[in-house]
Amino acid sequence: MGLIEEINKRRTFGIISHPDAGKTTLTEKLLLFGGAIQVAGAVKSNKIKRSATSDFMEIEKQRGISVATSVMGFEYKGLKVNILDTPGHQDFAEDTYRTLTAVDSVIVVIDVAKGVETQTEKLVKVCRMRKTPIIVFINKLDREGKDGFDLLDEIEEKLGLVVRPLSWPVGMGQRFQGVYNLYEKKLVLFNPHGKQSTEEVIEITDLDSEELDKQVGEDAANELREEVTMIEEVYLPFEREDYLEGELSPVFFGSAINNFGVKELLDCFVEIAPTPLPRVTEEREVRPDEDKFSGFVFKIHANMDPKHRDRIAFMRVCSGTFERNTNYLHVRQNKKMKFSNPTTFMASRKEVVDAAYPGDVIGLYDSGNFKIGDSVTSGEQLNFKGIPSFSPEQFRYVNNADPMKSKQLAKGLAQLMDEGVAQLFIKEINGRKIIGTVGALQFEVIQYRLKHEYGASCQYEPVNLHKACWISGSDEAIKGLVSKRKRDMAKDKHGNWVFLAESSWTLQMAQENHPEVSFHFKSEF
Ligand code: G4P
Repeated sequence: MGLIEEINKRRTFGIISHPDAGKTTLTEKLLLFGGAIQVAGAVKSNKIKRSATSDFMEIEKQRGISVATSVMGFEYKGLKVNILDTPGHQDFAEDTYRTLTAVDSVIVVIDVAKGVETQTEKLVKVCRMRKTPIIVFINKLDREGKDGFDLLDEIEEKLGLVVRPLSWPVGMGQRFQGVYNLYEKKLVLFNPHGKQSTEEVIEITDLDSEELDKQVGEDAANELREEVTMIEEVYLPFEREDYLEGELSPVFFGSAINNFGVKELLDCFVEIAPTPLPRVTEEREVRPDEDKFSGFVFKIHANMDPKHRDRIAFMRVCSGTFERNTNYLHVRQNKKMKFSNPTTFMASRKEVVDAAYPGDVIGLYDSGNFKIGDSVTSGEQLNFKGIPSFSPEQFRYVNNADPMKSKQLAKGLAQLMDEGVAQLFIKEINGRKIIGTVGALQFEVIQYRLKHEYGASCQYEPVNLHKACWISGSDEAIKGLVSKRKRDMAKDKHGNWVFLAESSWTLQMAQENHPEVSFHFKSEF
């Protein structure tokens, strides 16, 4: 099979949701359809449980398990579908932001009773920034929840998406009878008693037909007719082009745990979802069908065995064919590298691959060469964009607690930062180190891993900070800000200037006093 055929076969996406909306359950049902797993429960173990929020050892264990499920590939209808796992735990949101750089589309899962929740809002914002095509799956229809139209309004309002239902529920909770598939004009009946194969599909191309009353009863049938008429009047017709541009999001309803509505979602997904998309580099746009190989690292996972410092770098293939045991260029280090054991992950199975194609994600065993965002190519100097650091939300000073181990501490911190566990800022005025994270949990994870993997000890000290802002402007303007606000300035891991704002007020003052400097909440702008 040629490169073009391989590219056209691939659909690489991520599922995002607020914890507990049903992401794990949906992933699992999709894998069951694809035959990648045989029994339910195989993916569950990946989940960082709520009870584990204060138990970071447990989280580390879960992280270990999650290596295997970082990428879940399966074949469906002749296509190769790759699901990239995104951690549900909000303290690992930064991991999720980065994983979203490696997908071509996403499915957003929303709990019908809870509606749009905070984590979903944050993640969808990142997708919209990149115009990633989004499909919405409203889950748990077997329970009482919000009215369908109200939910669609909420999605439009809170997530800023323009929606178009492609299926519509008949009843809800106790009265839930199934969904009408507006895309294929079929009624799919729900049987709450079976768990595996619960769908009965009835073709009803004309909603006025008596068959509908026979199947769901007169009242429900009339309600559905009214609602479908309303949908056709209120919502734009579904155009695939609009979806691919990230401007229109189709919406499906179902119940993942009952395996209901999942097949409709998957069938539509494989039909409309984008094939691997071009990627932007600082130098130029890279198209997947280019002959020469290129890819970038979006996630690094430390091996859980402290005796081996090996890590796995996850790389998305962006163009050409990646081949095992072939010399490639590690662009940042300007160094040739060969990979003898590139690995793919199929749910819980992993295997060494000889070749990988655009849209694929491979795991590369690494002894400390890679940082998040690194590019690997056939030889060209390419630096992929779109893997920014986001302003952390929590900050602490980090101090060395064991003067005999300062080297180990420096090395451990550097490697953990390369992995993207947190961000390190060095204050200009006194060289003190500040760690910034998205969640409080990372502080414990860092302390624990420094001790167990590097033999170093650290202590934290509170620091009162609101945001870290990357800055841009003329050299003179930046010099002006740095000299006036030396106390608030720091450098990030790349040596870029960062303004550490104590409060939204100090940030506002700095913006007003230095109008020629732009302040950014992410490192790429
Ligand atoms: P997450 O990955 O998004 O965090 O959610 P997950 O799939 O783990 O689902 C969260 C809870 O919601 C689970 O229950 C799961 O069984 C339930 N769930 C998922 N889909 C549906 C659905 O369609 N209907 C209903 N009623 N429940 C659903 P749990 O009690 O937290 O876990 P478990 O003990 O069932 O594993």
